[in-house]
Amino acid sequence: MERINFTHDERAAAQIAACYDTPPMAYVRSFGCQQNVNDGEKIKGVLLDAGFGLCDSVEQADLILFNTCAVREHAEDRVFGNVGALKSLKEANPRLIIGVCGCMAQQPTVVEKLKKSYPFVDLVFGVNGIDTLPALLAEKLQRGRRLLQTPVERFDVVEQVPIRRDSSFRAWLPIMYGCDNFCTYCIVPYVRGRERSRRSEDVLAEFRQLVEQGYKEITLLGQNVNSYGKGLEEQIDFSDLLEKLCQVPGEYQIRFMTSHPKDASHKLIDTIAAHPQICRHIHLPVQSGSDRILQQMNRHYTAGQYRDLIRYAKEKIPGLTLSSDIIVGFPGETEEDFQATLDLVREIGYMQLFTFIYSRREGTKAATMPDPITRKEKTDRMARLLALHDEISHKLVSELVGSTVTVLVESHGRTEGCLNGRLDNNLVVEFAADPALLGQYARVTLTGARGAMLQGQLA
Ligand code: 5AD
Ligand code: SF4
Repeated sequence: MERINFTHDERAAAQIAACYDTPPMAYVRSFGCQQNVNDGEKIKGVLLDAGFGLCDSVEQADLILFNTCAVREHAEDRVFGNVGALKSLKEANPRLIIGVCGCMAQQPTVVEKLKKSYPFVDLVFGVNGIDTLPALLAEKLQRGRRLLQTPVERFDVVEQVPIRRDSSFRAWLPIMYGCDNFCTYCIVPYVRGRERSRRSEDVLAEFRQLVEQGYKEITLLGQNVNSYGKGLEEQIDFSDLLEKLCQVPGEYQIRFMTSHPKDASHKLIDTIAAHPQICRHIHLPVQSGSDRILQQMNRHYTAGQYRDLIRYAKEKIPGLTLSSDIIVGFPGETEEDFQATLDLVREIGYMQLFTFIYSRREGTKAATMPDPITRKEKTDRMARLLALHDEISHKLVSELVGSTVTVLVESHGRTEGCLNGRLDNNLVVEFAADPALLGQYARVTLTGARGAMLQGQLA
């Protein structure tokens, strides 16, 4: 692994500028997870650095980039639909450049499909090639031909990449890239490559800068933040990193995602307990409550070990809330396996649950496993899981009514004159307030709940 610093590409910027009378405009849209959203922010930063302006509609754009997600088939279909809809724009403006980047672009089958069936797509580039974008665009503009090669795998960590953040008070901060876990259903290790951590001094420098710029909520990102530090020269783990970040003075909250239960340690729980800046909420995807399925998924923990960890965490961190990801209908999941998942969900009491029907991803190990369960059975199980979770979350949410909490005011509410604020536990409360509070902390008394949405009033 090599650590390199981004450098401004003067030559590419000049070549790009020479092709336009006025600064060209770029439209960038990211799909999928926060890691991808953060990549999208870097893509925008790099484009600004190369002389582009940014725009909010495809109609105004000289360059359209879709930063894509490959985690489920549905996500890919959505991208293909959105790309397909650009055909007429390209016909009206042959100078328009259309690019597809991100996780989908890492797959040879996707690149082939774009090549054959989407002739108006001009270029693809991979998740680890954002720094090379200006040179790629310059080449496209100079030579005119399509640039559709499956990106080569890269192991570098690129620092100092320019960034245009979407928010002025909430920031994503990647601490590592890639994933080495190879859960058998998951495409991520194939598209995002090998796991590599950023040096703690680089993370700390970016963190300090964010706090100085007034960011109030900083979310540390990685596919498995609990294995942070592996392969670095310095001896450091994720808890040590949190400890270092918490020494930075200022008014902020730290979140992190995603935690893998196999690497979540008591030390981590103790670190959260010791620092009020770290949110009292952990997203700890369990995926299934059945040991047999967990083993088939290559998750390296049992439901019992998961329960023990949660027990310890609830004991050490008063008020802790939890959320999780669950896959329904993994190949060969029996009714008994599914019941084990329901039991676990009932027992843990997740405030939020992100549920997915298993989606077959070509190239993963699970794609070769026999999958006799019908679609109907899978959607049926999903409905039962959602019904159970609704019941649980209603109960948990209604228990909060009456309390006064600190929220980060993040957006305008649905109701006129109202704002939305996010609680420590990731729930959102709507309350009447002056828009000047946007981006600030506020104290709100919770007065009621409609589904998972809370109502409140300024305390
Ligand atoms: N099918 C369904 N869900 C998946 N996830 C990852 N891969 C798949 C797949 N092939 C889910 C997991 C993961 C979340 C980000 O997406 O639950 O935690
Ligand atoms: Fe996929 Fe598992 Fe890595 Fe998460 S930890 S990105 S589910 S392989």
